[in-house]
Amino acid sequence: MKGVILAAGKGSRLYPVTRIIPKPILPIANRLTIEYAFDRLKEMGIADICVVVGENEGQMREALDDGSAFGVHLTYVKQEDPKGLAHAVGFAKDFVGEDSFVLYLGDAVYSEGFADHAKRFLDSGCANLNIVKEVEDPSRFGVANVEGDRIVRLEEKPKNPQSNLAMAGMYFFSPKIWRVLPDLQPSARGEYEITDAIQTLINEGETVLAGVYGGVWFDTGTLDSYLETSAFQIKGATIVDPSASVKGTLGANVVVGEGATLECESIEDSVILPGANVKVKGNIRHAILGGPVSSDGDIQSEILHGDYLG
Ligand code: DAU
Repeated sequence: MKGVILAAGKGSRLYPVTRIIPKPILPIANRLTIEYAFDRLKEMGIADICVVVGENEGQMREALDDGSAFGVHLTYVKQEDPKGLAHAVGFAKDFVGEDSFVLYLGDAVYSEGFADHAKRFLDSGCANLNIVKEVEDPSRFGVANVEGDRIVRLEEKPKNPQSNLAMAGMYFFSPKIWRVLPDLQPSARGEYEITDAIQTLINEGETVLAGVYGGVWFDTGTLDSYLETSAFQIKGATIVDPSASVKGTLGANVVVGEGATLECESIEDSVILPGANVKVKGNIRHAILGGPVSSDGDIQSEILHGDYLG
């Protein structure tokens, strides 16, 4: 099997930080977000990986190069315009060829591996197996309606979900997927949906399985979820890179990146990005800060990058 990681999105829910650092290479516990994807793929014996990049191509190539520093071999393809997951995966067709592959969303982080699901996918010979997870608010996700171990119907972000099983950002595909992509139409939100592509496989009578994920799944795309992922990875500790300089009281769940300087009263539940220069007279709570940031008061639940005078 090969691996395909989708990393061409704009990361707009983490603006302005992701205008400077693309989301897939934003550090989580001082590792790049995409390194967690490499870990999960390598555990399944997959080192040959295609990364679908977008406007961020230059920075992605610079940070990851050919992947050898991370124990993987990377190929890049460019999706000029992020028109949806099914559109994005289409750019990986030549790379994948006649192989089966794992499709991995570049902003997903998982606590446990997928070796059992990979074995089940390969042993069953099915067209597609999708990792699903019970969630409280399925309307934010693709939702799988399941009979036995098969997915019988999929809906993308339904207003009235008929099931609480969310599509959890990890998909195993046989080459049958390539057959259905050319006929897809854009959805109501104007995107070529991977859920519509999978629904077409189901409609054509192919076997599409659900693999219920037992671990913790994080979608790192918002302030809350990014900080939650960071806290999970560092387990309540603080990590200060040896090259960083810190003046202030360090609380729980704090990461201070390489070369950063930080001055504040106290800091908790926050990430100071590599190279940041932060000078705050008050306290920092629940924030992601990069670049030069200074404030006379507290900074609370903010994403900041660049000149900020509070
Ligand atoms: O997080 C799981 C959900 O991901 C699934 O439950 C949904 O069925 C699926 O459609 C997707 O929903 P989102 O709307 O949350 O996807 P998002 O736009 O955040 O994109 C997910 C990743 O794919 C992200 O790392 C950026 C990348 N991407 C996205 C688009 C739209 C691309 O590389 N190209 C694209 O065109």
